[in-house]
Amino acid sequence: MSSGKYDDRGNKDLSLGNARGMGTATPVKQGGKSFPSTGGPFLAGENMTGGYGAGPDILHDCTIAVDRGEIAVIVGPNGAGKSTGMKAVFGMLNLRQGHVKLDGEDITQLSPQDRVAKGMGFVPQTSNIFTSMTVQENLEMGAFIRTDDIRPTMEQIYDLFPILRDKRNQAAGELSGGQRQQVAVGRALMTKPKVLMLDEPTAGVSPIVMDELFDRIIEVARTGIPILMVEQNARQALEIADKGYVLVQGRNAFTGTGQELLADPDVRKSFLGG
Ligand SMILES: Nc1ncnc2c1ncn2[C@@H]1O[C@H](COP(=O)(O)OP(=O)(O)OP(=O)(O)O)[C@@H](O)[C@H]1O
Ligand SMILES: [Mg+2]
Repeated sequence: MSSGKYDDRGNKDLSLGNARGMGTATPVKQGGKSFPSTGGPFLAGENMTGGYGAGPDILHDCTIAVDRGEIAVIVGPNGAGKSTGMKAVFGMLNLRQGHVKLDGEDITQLSPQDRVAKGMGFVPQTSNIFTSMTVQENLEMGAFIRTDDIRPTMEQIYDLFPILRDKRNQAAGELSGGQRQQVAVGRALMTKPKVLMLDEPTAGVSPIVMDELFDRIIEVARTGIPILMVEQNARQALEIADKGYVLVQGRNAFTGTGQELLADPDVRKSFLGG
């Protein structure tokens, strides 16, 4: 686990998600590509190679994963394949090689819809809300696979993001960037996911709003939902990361704990501005 100001992260309140018992974390392997197939990370895209349609491979033997009770962060330059890696894990890319595993089960062949039913929540980088619908309608849309009473979950999301309660009858498109991202995360949480994937949740927001969003993301992780996220704000994201991946040209360039990556001279020089 990382050290620093977020050390009080526990996994005490299991109300938001569906998380089962937390296992102990798998030790990180430097440059790690080989995770054991049993007792391994909760969600993993392992040795993924593939691209869009019949186009060239974008991912090359790429591995990204998140353990129970942890936050894993993917960083890297623009066009490195971070979003492509997330889409591959969510089933939106045909992999030519590699596997995706959820809680030990091989889900490589499942559709995104089936992955949602298995407990995966995904907030994509773009078009992640319905702008013409109200905040509340967005949250209701998020719960589309549920047949039980969704109101308690909606209340939990309004407790997590109080501004959304105030604006629940407003069109989501009228909200600020940071508030829209809260809607997007809230929408994904409406399925009561077992794991949450976020692609650049702080894109285009001010540093203050970024800090607030990170605090809320940590709060979600604390409820027992592992989080796999892509972040442009690499330094700040690695501060809160249990595990970090630096991707370059679709490949794993560096892998380690957040603290290891922050301390690595090569990572600092090339990706963190020195
Ligand atoms: N739908 C698509 N069809 C074909 N090629 C794509 C598609 N989406 C992305 N690519 C290509 O895949 C490569 C990786 O893009 P990707 O969006 O995964 O990078 P990224 O690391 O998420 O970048 P950014 O930091 O800008 O979000 C780029 O060369 C991009 O042009
Ligand atoms: Mg991207």
